[in-house]
Amino acid sequence: MSIRTLSSILGDMPEKEFPGIDARTPNAARIYNYFLGGKDNFGVDRAAAEVVLAMAPEVRVAAMENRAFLVRAVEYLAGDADVRQFVDIGSGIPAARPVHEVAQAIEPGARVVYVDNDPVVLVHSRALLGGRRGTAVVAGDARAPEAILDAPALTRLLDLDQPVAVVLIAVLHFVSGSDEPAEIVRRLLDRLPSGSHVVITHLSDGGVPDDPRIERSRALYNGGLHFRSRKRIEALFDGLDLVDPGVVGVGQWRGTAGGGVNGGGASWWLGGVGRKP
Ligand SMILES: C[S@@+](CC[C@H](N)C(=O)[O-])C[C@H]1O[C@@H](n2cnc3c(N)ncnc32)[C@H](O)[C@@H]1O
Repeated sequence: MSIRTLSSILGDMPEKEFPGIDARTPNAARIYNYFLGGKDNFGVDRAAAEVVLAMAPEVRVAAMENRAFLVRAVEYLAGDADVRQFVDIGSGIPAARPVHEVAQAIEPGARVVYVDNDPVVLVHSRALLGGRRGTAVVAGDARAPEAILDAPALTRLLDLDQPVAVVLIAVLHFVSGSDEPAEIVRRLLDRLPSGSHVVITHLSDGGVPDDPRIERSRALYNGGLHFRSRKRIEALFDGLDLVDPGVVGVGQWRGTAGGGVNGGGASWWLGGVGRKP
């Protein structure tokens, strides 16, 4: 992937210069890009990220483990599970080894639709991924799953009568309880045939819902970050067959022995893969 930074596309300019792009408020995709060592972020994002890292220095490694989970899950799906079509919702600013690169290394005909609701992510995704064989970039919101699956750019590329893997990596914790994340998963899978899969990672409360760092992190994201219990995260897979080893710390899912920062006691970034029977 060629290296272009947000500032080379947008300049480090205030919002009024670029309608829809707010360079003054910390942004989830850009903060995450900073955790991953990317350069596609502004000063406000770096400042917010540093507050998180001061509270929980392991977040940077955890973010990398989350990406490594994504790679292993897509390798499993394109390989053992024989899935050829992917919808990556909340795809974020493109990082190393995006879904299509991983899937097409195994199955060159694999097709991937990237979906996000953030204008910054869409600008960047179109600049970096636009025109790549077997890919499309769609503006869409996880809270409107039918609109995503009906988007013309998606239906042109994917055959929804054939199995699809829906990738929801590190996105459902931005969806509030009233927007019913489990319903979102169900509504997506309802439209897809047997053999379709969902891949989810989600921040958990680690069994310590009153950990003060949770509330402080939520405040940084204007309350828009929702740590859930293991039970609620497992419930996202209701009605699906869980692929081994089930819902585990992202570093433990078919990973190396030890499982990185999530490998020890409480796992607070959980992930799993479910298959529609
Ligand atoms: C932490 S990033 C994760 C990016 C990528 N999935 C990964 O794991 O590398 C979360 C992404 O979800 C997007 N997002 C948050 N809420 C969303 C929603 N309701 N619909 C679509 N995307 C959303 C954000 O814009 C951001 O790009």
